[in-house]
Parts: sequence; C-alpha cells; structure tokens
Amino acid sequence: MVKAVVLGAAGGIGQPLALLLKTNPLITELGLFDIVNTPGVAADLSHIATPAKVEGYLPPDDGLAKTLKGADIVVIPAGVPRKPGMTRDDLFKINAGIVRDLATGIATTAPKAFVLVISNPVNSTVPIVAEVFKQHGTFDPKRLFGVTTLDVVRASTFVSEVINDLSKAPEIVVPVVGGHSGVTIVPILSQSSHPVLSLLDGDKLKALTDRIQFGGDEVVKAKDGTGSATLSMAYAGAEFATKVIKALAGEKGLIAPSYVHLDADKEGGAALKKEIGKDLDYFSTNIEIGPNGVERIIPLGKLTDYEKQLIAAAVPELETNIAKGATFQKAPP
Ligand code: NAI
Repeated sequence: MVKAVVLGAAGGIGQPLALLLKTNPLITELGLFDIVNTPGVAADLSHIATPAKVEGYLPPDDGLAKTLKGADIVVIPAGVPRKPGMTRDDLFKINAGIVRDLATGIATTAPKAFVLVISNPVNSTVPIVAEVFKQHGTFDPKRLFGVTTLDVVRASTFVSEVINDLSKAPEIVVPVVGGHSGVTIVPILSQSSHPVLSLLDGDKLKALTDRIQFGGDEVVKAKDGTGSATLSMAYAGAEFATKVIKALAGEKGLIAPSYVHLDADKEGGAALKKEIGKDLDYFSTNIEIGPNGVERIIPLGKLTDYEKQLIAAAVPELETNIAKGATFQKAPP
C-alpha cells in the first residue's frame, strides 16, 4: 500500500510523471495537487486500468492537506521552468517561495513522507525544504532527495551516442555527482560502465563533459521559450521514484544518485567531505536507498585529475547555492 503524491501535477513534467506513476503497480493511491487543472488530470488518469486510486485537488478547501494526507512519497515538480538565456539560479526568486509553501504543507500533514524535489534550482530548493522541516522539528535527512536522475539518464544516452550504439543506452551507467546545474554537474566518465574514456582524447572528453553539464540547454533552446525538459524529466523522475518505492516495499541493494544532506549517513558523508575537501552540507552522489530512506552515502572513489578539477570548480558554486537556499528560509525576505 503506497500513496504517492505529485505537487505541480498539471505541469509539463507533472502530467507525464503522474501518468508514469499511475502505471506503477506498487502505487495504490495517487494524489495530485496544482494551482490549476488537477481535477481534469486526475479524472483522465483515473480511467487507466491500474491499481492506483487517483484524486486531484486545487488550493481551495485545504486541497494541499487533502492531497498530502497519508502520503508515503511526495514528488515536487511545481514551479516555473527556464526560458532561453536563463540559468537554473534565475528561477530562484519564484520557485523558492513555491517550494517553501509546499514543504510547509508536507511538514504539517505528511512529515514522515519521502520528499523528492525536482523544482529548480535543486541545489537551493533542497536546502529550503530541509530548513522548513527543521523549523517544524520534523527534519530527517534520510528522507529528503534532490532529483538529479536526468543528468544520469542524459549521460547514458550521450555515451551511447559517442560509441554509436543507442541500443546500449539503457545499460550504460555513468555516475554524475556534485549538484544539478551547469558546472556543478560532474560526470565521472572514468567510472562509466562502458570504458568510453579510452575512446576520448582531451577535446572529445571536454565536449562530452560539457554536453552532460549543459544538456538541459539543448532542450530549452529547441523549445524556444516554451519551457525546459519535461518528458525526459518525467521519465527520469519516475525511474528514481520507482526505486524509492521499491525500497519502501523492502527491496534491498537499490543504488541511485541523488542530491542529499550529507548527515543522512554521517560516516559516508564524512568520507565524501574529505574527498571533496570541503564541509558542504549537500552533495549529489550514489546512495543506497532502503525502507528508511538513505541507508548509505557512497563516496566518489578514484577520480582522474580532470575529474578532480571539475569537482574543484563545482564546490564553490554549490556552496553559494546551498547558502542561498538555507538563508532564504532562515530569514525570508
Ligand atoms: P510547468 O510550468 O510546465 O509546470 C509547473 C507546474 O507547477 C504548473 O502546472 C503550475 O501551475 C504548478 N505550480 C505553480 N505554483 C504552484 C504551487 N504553489 N503549488 C502547486 N503547483 C504549482 O514547468 P515544468 O516544465 O513542469 O517544470 C517544473 C520545474 O521542474 C521547474 O522548476 C523546472 O526548472 C524543473 N526541472 C527540473 C529538472 C531536474 O532535473 N530536477 C529538469 C527539468 C525541469
């Protein structure tokens, strides 16, 4: 019996994500919340012959609380997406307040739920959720996840394109660590399950790294002002949510990358801080997920000199992004 909730469910990501979750046989209840259109989206999805009972609410009459009641997992893709020329950080002004309000609802109504944050800038919105939870005395770092899966999905695809064999894309695994924006996205191609590094000279390695870091810009540009990645994000979000749900159901050994608070596993977090040479509170890395959330933070392991340089460039940017989110909530403007 798993209740999953999508906040921002009528949006570009929210609708296909809700569709994919509706097809997950482990989900028995699916709650949808948005400031527009959720009754329609819910009615539409409810006709699909899968176990999940679907309900959609709008803000009036305590719609957020009704949606969240009894939630085991809450996925948040609410907020504005990028337009050409914008960075994810440019979204902060609008999305920070949206995420804070939704997090307040979760802390009040479903404080034990696993929270998966998609809304950008993820590097800052995750600290906002954590601060809201701390203020409500309900913060458990094991239960909060920034969704960075799309970076990993892109890395698999782009590596399969380099080796000219898209059929290998589903099985190629490349750890992508750091954060979820520009230079904070650090692909560890030396640890790719396909030994792609041996095929890449310096320029090609840089080009592939850049493409993984800035892959989102390709979509923003192609959509020409109408938004950013939605379908690939819904796919990635559903993939990550499915792992979390399987872990909740007791499956063991589930590894996935996510942007987490490093106190979620104090020992693993301390080892990772040593590797990056900085006492950051949040970082994206492979984690093992279990029934209580983050079981283990997996350190980065052996890196090439180039990857060490990428990490060194990511750390100060991440530090600024984290402080921006945490400060916003501690002292809202
Ligand atoms: P969208 O504009 O199509 O949908 C956002 C939805 O959020 C809309 O339906 C809107 O009504 C809703 N919303 C706004 N305020 C709300 C509130 N207070 N409560 C509930 N719902 C609210 O945007 P899209 O394309 O779905 O993107 C959503 C977010 O996901 C953006 O911040 C975007 O940057 C981010 N994103 C994150 C990625 C990641 O890898 N983590 C990848 C792609 C996008």
